[in-house]
Amino acid sequence: MEPIHLFVPTFRVEEVLAEIRACLEKGWTGLGFKTVEIEERWVEHTGLPHAHFLSSASAGLHLAVRLLKEQHGWRDGDEVITTPLTFVSTNHAILYERLRPVFADVDEHLCLDPASVEERIGPRTRAILFVGLGGNPGRYADVLALCRRRGLKLILDAAHMAGTWIGREHAGRDADVAVFSFQAVKNLPTADSGMICFAEAGLDAEARKWSWMGINKDTYTRTHSGDTYKWLYDVEHVGFKYHGNSIMAAMALVALRYLEEDNARRRSLCERYDAALSGAPGVECVPMIPGTTPSRHLYQVLVERRDDTMVRLNQKAIYPGVHYRDNTLYRMYASAEVSCPNARRASERLISLPLHLRLSEADVDRVASTLRRVVAP
Ligand SMILES: Cc1ncc(COP(=O)(O)O)c(C=O)c1O
Repeated sequence: MEPIHLFVPTFRVEEVLAEIRACLEKGWTGLGFKTVEIEERWVEHTGLPHAHFLSSASAGLHLAVRLLKEQHGWRDGDEVITTPLTFVSTNHAILYERLRPVFADVDEHLCLDPASVEERIGPRTRAILFVGLGGNPGRYADVLALCRRRGLKLILDAAHMAGTWIGREHAGRDADVAVFSFQAVKNLPTADSGMICFAEAGLDAEARKWSWMGINKDTYTRTHSGDTYKWLYDVEHVGFKYHGNSIMAAMALVALRYLEEDNARRRSLCERYDAALSGAPGVECVPMIPGTTPSRHLYQVLVERRDDTMVRLNQKAIYPGVHYRDNTLYRMYASAEVSCPNARRASERLISLPLHLRLSEADVDRVASTLRRVVAP
């Protein structure tokens, strides 16, 4: 039996090698050159106001929180409302800056439920960190409206949302800041990189300094300027080394050319899963919001006796994943005083079925029919 894995990235090898070759021949693999090009292409493609290429989305989420805290004078202990159903990078970003994550519950889309968020807004709430889980925008529009009404900042963890469109706009267009992941198994795969997109030009400029140790001139610009004093720079902050490099950018440039085509293929595989699984006894599918075109990073279902189901799928050479466990189950977040019953229920039942570009229709049929047999009462 051929194994069917959760994720297998597809790289256009010859095109990627040609882009990387250009870096090697030029003698420039670091910040600048291809990183400038991917930022320009990303802005062109998505219509987002600014873009700065980084080493990962984890770095981007930290910068997002750091810079908003700095700009608005948030104090240690101020609160950010967030979801317990995410990768820990999302919530670590809040803790890096000594802010307090306040967990709100998710809805049937597995994204933050606006009603639960509203309930948890208090005098020290400063921002909402919304995660588009699996590329699904969920009730993002309602959460955004809530932020605007209550004077809160909206940080969008768009790690899964490369190529998610909400109506005619790319996800993140109206957030205060959106952060995308281009890690190896994401929809725009490199090895490790990401993009931070601030709404404000001033914060975009700050992000460029903060991601390069707080230095106010990047080496590429300095090297290529005719300025006699190109060696001279100032250091404005104790920044980080978070910027992306030209080898990753070369990979991203190729992946971006195929993003929409690849996501269309993912959506077609998901429709096939939907047709095979909706109404199947014991399988709950996660609904998408009409009028949105999600990237479909994940295809998630909820089943009873999840762990046993995973073992039985593995016995049939099918290897799904779990995105994610309720973060308050981790020792690190266990002290959060929360009640998020939907997130806890989902955390115990969620399975991400195999979804990637090397999957055939027959593979989807095999996964769906095996799952139906395994969970049948
Ligand atoms: C929801 C979410 N946020 C953030 C990240 C972090 O992305 P990166 O690996 O690019 O740091 C991930 C990665 O899996 C994720 O799933």
